[in-house]
Amino acid sequence: MDGHENPLRRQADAAFIRSWLKSPLKMGAVSPSSRALGRRMAEAVPDEPADGVVVELGPGTGVVTGCLLESGIEPDHLVCLEYAPEFCTLLRARFPRVHILQGDAYAPPAALKRALAGRPLRAVVSSLPLMTRPEHDRERAVAGYLDLLPPGAPFIQFSYAFAPPVRARHVGAEATVSPWIKRNLPPARVITYRRDGG
Ligand SMILES: C[S@@+](CC[C@H](N)C(=O)[O-])C[C@H]1O[C@@H](n2cnc3c(N)ncnc32)[C@H](O)[C@@H]1O
Repeated sequence: MDGHENPLRRQADAAFIRSWLKSPLKMGAVSPSSRALGRRMAEAVPDEPADGVVVELGPGTGVVTGCLLESGIEPDHLVCLEYAPEFCTLLRARFPRVHILQGDAYAPPAALKRALAGRPLRAVVSSLPLMTRPEHDRERAVAGYLDLLPPGAPFIQFSYAFAPPVRARHVGAEATVSPWIKRNLPPARVITYRRDGG
């Protein structure tokens, strides 16, 4: 961490509040994710394949991004897709070696395929506010990312809701649900969807 990190974090927090005031449904959260939540999501990312790419959806202020990097994921192996241009600018300043793409995770841009450059996917890590979208959109999005993942590789999503945002059987997957992470505002759980190879 260098001397630029704290001012950038403050800018990120201010950007979060501005985005929330402008578009609360796009944010789907009242505050940035906690590091406890970010670490829990990072722990669900497998080590293999070592050359695999992790795609992060809706990175926002970059709390989860930071935890993914701290867990040992190489910046070149991390591709972030964020809708809000202001967050993209901040993320590029905070994480200059990570691929930051601006776009809609429900209609992934061609740049996502280019950034993967034929490399396998290791995991998709999502902070998307899925519950603000109709069930059909959520299922289509999660199923689309599961199609990109090799069998057994996880789609990792956090949620504040009591019911999972997507029913696993509707996307042909199995799901595991973490205990509530109380050190987050509000408390959240991490839901991990996987399809087996059979
Ligand atoms: C819950 S907030 C981000 C939480 C993030 N972990 C943090 O700590 O800042 C959700 C994020 O998803 C982004 N987002 C919402 N809809 C999106 C979409 N369709 N495509 C990509 N990003 C989206 C929002 O701009 C916001 O940054």
